[in-house]
Amino acid sequence: MITAKEIYLSYDKNRFIIKKGSLHIREKEFIFIGGNSGSGKSTLIKSLYGDIGLKHGELFVDGHKMKGISASNLRKLRRDIGIIFQDYKLINEWTIEENIMLPLKINGYSSDISRKQALNLLSHVKLSHRKGYKPNELSGGEQQRVAVARALAHNPKIIIADEPTGNLDDYSAEVVWNLLKGANEQLGITVVVVTHRVPKNFGIKFRQLSIEDGIIYEVS
Ligand SMILES: Nc1ncnc2c1ncn2[C@@H]1O[C@H](COP(=O)(O)OP(=O)(O)OP(=O)(O)O)[C@@H](O)[C@H]1O
Ligand SMILES: [Mg+2]
Repeated sequence: MITAKEIYLSYDKNRFIIKKGSLHIREKEFIFIGGNSGSGKSTLIKSLYGDIGLKHGELFVDGHKMKGISASNLRKLRRDIGIIFQDYKLINEWTIEENIMLPLKINGYSSDISRKQALNLLSHVKLSHRKGYKPNELSGGEQQRVAVARALAHNPKIIIADEPTGNLDDYSAEVVWNLLKGANEQLGITVVVVTHRVPKNFGIKFRQLSIEDGIIYEVS
């Protein structure tokens, strides 16, 4: 599903953030990526959806060669990926229901079906009672749960999440982990999650990678 061979990532010429990074993630795997702040975790996962290009090496995501990928192929790839950002990136002018409908609309679903699916997901993230609210009328934990619902809405092949429980209380974190586990176990979605802390007694099979100063290690 995702294969990187000796990739180098950087924002400027003078410093590589990811150095000689290799990894192989199979379909339906659940992967945790850990490592210290600034080690390159967000940078690595940005490369998986083409937000940062690679300087050297080879990267394949869902059959797409990422080096030199065309704009139209990148659009196609991103339709198959659900992304949960470290800072949510919700649209503040829209209700949370409309936010969750967005990926469905982009993928060509009718308004009726999109709305039904959004309401269904809102109940999964325990926010049905907030459906008419806008993101900035919600707490951080509630917004993160909306972001998770949005990432799942169009049934993507891959979910990429950057610290999805970083600033959540135990209740919200549990809701998020359960959703990601369900997506993986029941729907067979490949999940790649950056987190500082792997939850205890996770209950499903997973594999753990770590990044230290730009080098990717296999932990388990
Ligand atoms: N847009 C950018 N432009 C230039 N440098 C950047 C940019 N984003 C990140 N960096 C640098 O890349 C390095 C790795 O950052 P990255 O965001 O990948 O770390 P991280 O492991 O996700 O950290 P955290 O756990 O704090 O989120 C940092 O030294 C950072 O300063
Ligand atoms: Mg980060």
